[in-house]
Amino acid sequence: MNHHHQDAPVSYPTYLRLDELLALQHPRSKPEHPDELLFIVVHQASELWFKVLLHELDILIARMDSDDTLGALAATKRVNALVQIITNQLSSLETLPPQRFAEFRGYLGTSSGSQSEQFRAIEAKSGLRDAHFMQAIAEHGQPPEPVRAALEKPALQDTFERMIARAGTSLEEIYRDPSQTALFLVAEALLEYEQGFALWRFLHVQLVERVIGPVTGGTGGTLGAKYLSRTVSQRFFPSLWEVRSKFYGSAPAK
Ligand code: HEM
Repeated sequence: MNHHHQDAPVSYPTYLRLDELLALQHPRSKPEHPDELLFIVVHQASELWFKVLLHELDILIARMDSDDTLGALAATKRVNALVQIITNQLSSLETLPPQRFAEFRGYLGTSSGSQSEQFRAIEAKSGLRDAHFMQAIAEHGQPPEPVRAALEKPALQDTFERMIARAGTSLEEIYRDPSQTALFLVAEALLEYEQGFALWRFLHVQLVERVIGPVTGGTGGTLGAKYLSRTVSQRFFPSLWEVRSKFYGSAPAK
């Protein structure tokens, strides 16, 4: 039954709010630089995908909280598909050569990806807690609301560890015991999430080096590529990396 009979029927453009969505791209360069639209859209699209990613991370965390191991596996696979989409978008900006970005970079003012609240919230929700990260979010006073909320609740990393503890097992046992295959597959899928995210970081630093060079400072006031390179080795799940060495002696192979 249609309770909204007085409204226009739902259609593709109204359901998707295309009038509003497609009116949100406002290049600032004058005259408009032909590459600025792409630059804006890749960032806007990334933020839309960050929104979906945050939503799906919440679903993943909820499934782990209720010990739904296979549901968590399915959710992690979706999360990984999203990270791949976000990463693949970067390649379109590899067609932006340095001399052309230089023509409109000034119009961006102090805008910088380091001001992305959703990106920081993803890092926080995933479990990043290292000193470099905590410093980056504390730099501008109180962390923004979505980041604070993510820091206050158990992150994906802790949630996974707790699920394992409730199952009465340990990470090492999950990797040794063939009867723990479901938890093992979740662990490996989380490791893929970590790898996928690190790949975004790496391809983004390379993009930055390609477009503004390795030593140009960022509009966010950082050392640019130098700062970003340090983030590539940050880890959400240190224990998933540490467990791998348990299967090898500590002495180097002869
Ligand atoms: C021409 C392309 C790009 C250039 C030249 C560029 C440049 C930079 C630079 C220099 C930084 C370091 C922070 C600072 O500004 O001082 C940075 C950080 C960042 N950028 Fe980009 N960027 C580009 C594309 C993108 C795209 C497409 C996204 C997608 C959302 C993005 C998201 C971010 C994020 C989230 C950070 C913070 C990373 C962190 O602190 O770990 N950037 N970018």
